[in-house]
Amino acid sequence: MQSSPDKLYLSGMVGFFKSVREDIAAIFENDPAARSYLEVLLCYPGLHAVWCHHWNSWLWRHKLRFLARFCSQVSRLLTGIEIHPGAQIGRRMFIDHGLGVVIGETSIVGDDVTLYQGVTLGGTGKEKGKRHPTIGNNVSIGSGAKILGNIRVGDNCRVGAGSVVLRNVPDNSTIVGVPGHIVLRDGKRVIITDPKEIRDPLSDVIIKLAAEVHELRKKLQEHTHEALGAEPELQFDEESERASEKELFAEDYLDYQI
Ligand SMILES: CC(C)(COP(=O)(O)OP(=O)(O)OC[C@H]1O[C@@H](n2cnc3c(N)ncnc32)[C@H](O)[C@@H]1OP(=O)(O)O)[C@@H](O)C(=O)NCCC(=O)NCCS
Repeated sequence: MQSSPDKLYLSGMVGFFKSVREDIAAIFENDPAARSYLEVLLCYPGLHAVWCHHWNSWLWRHKLRFLARFCSQVSRLLTGIEIHPGAQIGRRMFIDHGLGVVIGETSIVGDDVTLYQGVTLGGTGKEKGKRHPTIGNNVSIGSGAKILGNIRVGDNCRVGAGSVVLRNVPDNSTIVGVPGHIVLRDGKRVIITDPKEIRDPLSDVIIKLAAEVHELRKKLQEHTHEALGAEPELQFDEESERASEKELFAEDYLDYQI
């Protein structure tokens, strides 16, 4: 049975008002600074950017590409948040403060995602086609974090402020640092015992320095015949889970050669 245009219009309007209510509720839930409906409606540029994006995305999907791009730039001018009209945004996205947030064309963002100011969901500049990240449900991305390339950040993940994430992140993980590495998984602290596995160019330097210190200690001991104290060892608390990056990033680890 076909729905009449009136019915379709009505259900569209109901859906629209439902999503407006949800967006406002998400702000009250996530931001203790939100006091009244009037304040939320007028003082949250993240909310304005998301609503403008719904309109721009509609234009984009109806092949009015130039108009969609133009309107998204007007929205950027007003809110400081750039969401490409081709990006797919889930429900109840909360952009706190917002200034400097960039969401690229082929990004896909799940439901209940929070972004702070300065977050980039961008490309690496090397890829074509789907070149921006896919973000799962219930993810929080800290201020200034950059998530680059066609990677997936799993459900219930948290990305630390200032991190640069370049690889898939499994569900229920907290990832921090440059380049991003997992520090918590399923609520348990993760210790990566081999610094080489963090894939930071500085790790190589640290490994070489440690080897050199070891050699120097040996020579000094031979020379002075004095007993030196034990070499420093990392302390781990018992709750911590020791893991290797191979295990954490199983899927995409194969592509990478140290
Ligand atoms: C990543 C984050 C969610 C982790 O919070 P948490 O679960 O409480 O975890 P902890 O604070 O115990 O941190 C775990 C480890 O990661 C480190 N860490 C946490 N955040 C980090 C970050 N942004 N960059 C680098 N390391 C970080 C901590 O130093 C700690 O390491 P240690 O145990 O070796 O000392 C939080 O630190 C964060 O960055 N939130 C973003 C908030 C934000 O952007 N606010 C902006 C408001 S305007």
